[in-house]
Amino acid sequence: MNGDRLLDVVAIDGPSGSGKSTIAKRLAERLGWRHLDTGAMYRAVTLRFLELGVHLEDPKEVRSALESLDLRLGEEAEVYLEGREVGSALRRPEVEARVSAVSALPAVRKAMVALQRAEAGKGPLVAEGRDMTTVVFPDARCRIFLEASVEERARRRLRDFERASREVGFSEVLEEIRARDFLDSTRADAPLRKAEGVHVLDTTGLSIEACVDRIERILREGASR
Ligand code: DC
Repeated sequence: MNGDRLLDVVAIDGPSGSGKSTIAKRLAERLGWRHLDTGAMYRAVTLRFLELGVHLEDPKEVRSALESLDLRLGEEAEVYLEGREVGSALRRPEVEARVSAVSALPAVRKAMVALQRAEAGKGPLVAEGRDMTTVVFPDARCRIFLEASVEERARRRLRDFERASREVGFSEVLEEIRARDFLDSTRADAPLRKAEGVHVLDTTGLSIEACVDRIERILREGASR
């Protein structure tokens, strides 16, 4: 798929619980492309900052933690922090509670964007997050914005928590999602927003396979234009 200046990237943005990770993973499997979960990268930085006790309001501490950060991504979207695979720790409540604040810091975003673009240099990617279509890969071959009703997203999140044996109520999850949406879409640096020209896909009531089919069709149609 070459001959133009578009990157071999499917860029997917959307709020928490819109189905990004599951859909991106499945699409990447189908295409034989790598899956880049950028939310996991921001969670990993958050975990590291918690371990080091970084004060977010102190730019020096933030800078020095970023300079010494050893964050690497595996072939199967695993995340390695200081050489340790940190998968399950990324969903811990304390990470969940801090990740919006950490990911709002411009210095953190700058470091992550550089890593994300470097990943695209290694081969085709399905990249998901909040600023893939707007900031990181505006020149992606295919740009998708996923949405779903807030209630549907809360139900999905609740199912994830149940699988992880965490007892949380529906209203608590709903509030957490609303608060996260607010923070992610109102921050100054790279807020979540629908860029011009993106394909908007509402996943409410759609199966994973149906969503993946649609995105794959959009990609192929774009490629044959
Ligand atoms: O997709 P997720 O829930 O794992 O994302 C965790 C947090 O990271 C979320 O609050 C927003 C932030 N994030 C971001 O700011 N930019 C991205 N590209 C991906 C995630």
